[in-house]
Amino acid sequence: MSDRHTLSVAGVEVDTRHWIGGERIASAETFTDHSPIDGSPIGEIARGGAAEARAAVAAAKAAFPAWAATPRTERARILHAVADGVDKRLEDLAQVETRDNGALLRSHRRGVMPRVAHNFRFFADWLLTLDHEDFDTRGHTNHVSWDPAGPCVLITPWNAPLMLATWKVAPALAAGNTVVLKPAEWSPLTASLLADIAAEAGLPAGVLNVVQGHGSEVGAALVADPDVRRISFTGSVPTARRIAEAAAANLTPLSLELGGKSPLLVFADADLDLAVDLAVEQYDNAGQVCLAATRLLVDSTVAAEFTERFRTRALALRQGDPRDEATDLGPTIHPRQLEKVEGFVRRAVTAGARAVVGGGRNEELGGLYHRPTLLTDVAQDSEIVQEEIFGPVLTLQTFDTEAEAVALANDTRFGLAATVATGSHERAERVTAQLVAGTVWVNCFFVRDLQAPFGGARHSGVGREGGTWSFDFYCDLKNTVTAPKGWTDHG
Ligand code: NAI
Ligand code: MG
Repeated sequence: MSDRHTLSVAGVEVDTRHWIGGERIASAETFTDHSPIDGSPIGEIARGGAAEARAAVAAAKAAFPAWAATPRTERARILHAVADGVDKRLEDLAQVETRDNGALLRSHRRGVMPRVAHNFRFFADWLLTLDHEDFDTRGHTNHVSWDPAGPCVLITPWNAPLMLATWKVAPALAAGNTVVLKPAEWSPLTASLLADIAAEAGLPAGVLNVVQGHGSEVGAALVADPDVRRISFTGSVPTARRIAEAAAANLTPLSLELGGKSPLLVFADADLDLAVDLAVEQYDNAGQVCLAATRLLVDSTVAAEFTERFRTRALALRQGDPRDEATDLGPTIHPRQLEKVEGFVRRAVTAGARAVVGGGRNEELGGLYHRPTLLTDVAQDSEIVQEEIFGPVLTLQTFDTEAEAVALANDTRFGLAATVATGSHERAERVTAQLVAGTVWVNCFFVRDLQAPFGGARHSGVGREGGTWSFDFYCDLKNTVTAPKGWTDHG
């Protein structure tokens, strides 16, 4: 059944066109999507521009009144049907995503794709509980309502494409908005499958639109469109600045989830096995995780032992084809990302850093595989400690006092997350209170409940998503004040 607009990826048919107003739309131009597994081209994808952006926003605008007026229970029912569709196609989604972005098939199967379905179920259920008790002002009733805002533009990255997209798509749709989703050009495929799943689940035409293409082209046109009522973006700080500038012209409200340089603080009283586990976990997704605790800050009295245990564990990680269930660490996504990671490591080593694990490409595997790397002897003000790398590269620094640990932890321009390993409740309380971060984990990592606010301080972002906070962002909150007087119907 493959035609020139359909790819067969791991046996799964993927439409390469946009999905606008309930129709597949091609573009005159295309771009090539690659697989990081071996760098091979997967196929040609529609390359949208200003015209496609306009068409998608117009479709979202046209579909908005009816979707906004659809009863909550019906919106929730359709979102549950989308979740059922995701569950039904879980293996397809996992296979396609792994080929497209190189993350582990086993994670997609067991963690990521089930969470995609959960994103829809969670926000569908939350919608039905969304309420604020009326309150009284001198006999006047105050009633708070969450009115849908309008067309939302959602711009998403490549490190967890469908998962991060649906964190935004699910609450935006649940709230009664219509959506234009622009996935990253390095990982465009699962968004197209989501359009198929949503259509099959009965989501009306134009409620979810997917446009493909480059950020600087179709992305830039979308965020500048005056009919857009919300923009939610996950990605890099420089791109966030560009989007904020475009949004400023229309005063479009923004949610920005940006990078991080999060610390893992290991105190001398910590369970060292647990601390090492937490540290090794930071190589997940080849380090291409915004939340990754890439700065290991370790009490100097346990640093030697910690480093040795960490080294043993890191060297035992199996790097290879992400489709292999035994693989722990796959490739970086793109030659540009690999070069970026290598550049950081090379400059750090030139500046005096020591690679106690890894330190460069995996020459045996070739391709886009960078070895898990740990660098010591790094200065606090150096690039490797201050800048987000987004690859399997961690740094290790030591501290002598708790105050020094906190100072080091907070001394970057980011503030997305922090992880603390300690055996002392009192210390945990003291330290967490002082950390600048949107999320702090104590003796754990990556436990993420959709009820919780998620976002970053400082340059790690603007705004919070999750539970009520998502609905606050995707809605125009309205307070209706009704007087006890003036009634003629005596109702
Ligand atoms: P990016 O921020 O440029 O891309 C993210 C998304 O923004 C993509 O969909 C892209 O097409 C879109 N985009 C780019 N320019 C745009 C514009 N002017 N208007 C509207 N949309 C636009 O990130 P990139 O270049 O892929 O990665 C660079 C670095 O960003 C990484 O090395 C990493 O440090 C960081 N990053 C952080 C992520 C996070 O989860 N916070 C995710 C991905 C990357
Ligand atoms: Mg790709």
